[in-house]
Amino acid sequence: MGAEEVLSGSKVYWTGVNDYTSDLFEGIWPVGEYGVSINSYIIKAEKTVLIDLVKAGGGGSSENLVDQLASIDLEPEEIDYLVLNHLEPDHTGFLSSFRRICPNAEIITSKKGVPLVKAFYGISENVKAVEDGETLDIGDGKQLVFAYIPNVHWPETMVTYETSTKILFSCDAFGSFGALKGGIFDDEILKEDHEFFEAESLRYYANIVGPFSNSVLKAIEKAGGLDIKVIAPSHGLIWRKNPETIINRYVRYANYMNDYAEPKITVIWGTMYGNTEIMMRSVLRGIAKEKVKVDVLKVPETDVSYVLAKAWESAGLVIAMPTYEYKIFPPMKYVLDIFDYKHVWHKKVLRVGSFGWSGGAERHFEQTIKNFKWDCIGPLEYQGAPTEEDLKKGEQLGAELAKEVKQIPPKK
Ligand SMILES: Cc1cc2nc3c(=O)[nH]c(=O)nc-3n(C[C@H](O)[C@H](O)[C@H](O)COP(=O)(O)O)c2cc1C
Ligand SMILES: [Fe+2]
Ligand SMILES: [Fe+2]
Repeated sequence: MGAEEVLSGSKVYWTGVNDYTSDLFEGIWPVGEYGVSINSYIIKAEKTVLIDLVKAGGGGSSENLVDQLASIDLEPEEIDYLVLNHLEPDHTGFLSSFRRICPNAEIITSKKGVPLVKAFYGISENVKAVEDGETLDIGDGKQLVFAYIPNVHWPETMVTYETSTKILFSCDAFGSFGALKGGIFDDEILKEDHEFFEAESLRYYANIVGPFSNSVLKAIEKAGGLDIKVIAPSHGLIWRKNPETIINRYVRYANYMNDYAEPKITVIWGTMYGNTEIMMRSVLRGIAKEKVKVDVLKVPETDVSYVLAKAWESAGLVIAMPTYEYKIFPPMKYVLDIFDYKHVWHKKVLRVGSFGWSGGAERHFEQTIKNFKWDCIGPLEYQGAPTEEDLKKGEQLGAELAKEVKQIPPKK
């Protein structure tokens, strides 16, 4: 796609790439067939500004940027400033090539960004650090304000706000997985596409930003002082009709780290020979009797990225897995380790599972989750196949969990 003007007459343009070539974002999170967009922006004024770059290789080739600039009658050498809101290589990988084609463009980043520009790309010349709150007049009535938003997503991250158009270039904040399918703006896409991007913004949030939720809330509070007309993030849709939709969504997601999330249950289960599966079905029966929404995800078949997204927005979890070599069934340990990284906290949890002789999964589970702020019922463990009595107990515990989860007020 060529560059597209964000607001008519604004001389602010979306550029960037829709990356379908990477299977795994950050080397972990599947983006696969749906891709991911990496948005950059051009501001044309007396000075020409490029906000954020794209990654190296893949869709982020020099040809792409050069073509997009050409579509708005710009040559790369005409760029005066390159603003780097965040140094993660999805937005900077192309920097070395960019320096070669635009040697005169001054790089602008936060104080903590400067050493990262050097460390990742060996560039220290023509790099300027801006302070939190600093402004830059770029002529034609346009002014940039830089605001630090540490840890959304890295410590050096900042956002850039253009005062005349009231556009906030928010970088990873308010982003989403999912490539732009021709529609770039929130007012251009269908309802179904909004549903798709909503699911992908939750997955992006839980996978990428989740553990920094308190920083997200601080950043949103800080942004509250700005009159924002457009949210222009570095991934996903640009919000020019209803920017509050994505802001409210992010507030809700951030709050899920600090309190019980939505009144629903995610059942995460794994089995070697089916003895845990039988129990999981009884637990589901109990949950169903209480009419609580449930998602059932099997590991390792379901990628942890999706497990994390569902768990993030659920107040209740069922963890069903057997003992394996005196420990947790390994694919479930991986899920729980990711939950630790990502701060999947404040859940009501039921753990069930089979063992063969002396068990061990439960002890290992308790050690693993000790800092999770989880409120556990059960566990229900049994040797070999569950008895009728075990299954009845499983159903009861499922219902008990569901009853507790039902008490939690919905946040939507
Ligand atoms: C590779 C392997 C390791 C196991 N390690 C243990 C163990 O350390 N302690 C134990 O009590 N049972 C152990 N078991 C037995 C399983 O926990 C038992 O077969 C259980 O019923 C499996 O549940 P599932 O049918 O849901 O896979 C092991 C089984 C396998 C296949
Ligand atoms: Fe990032
Ligand atoms: Fe990013």
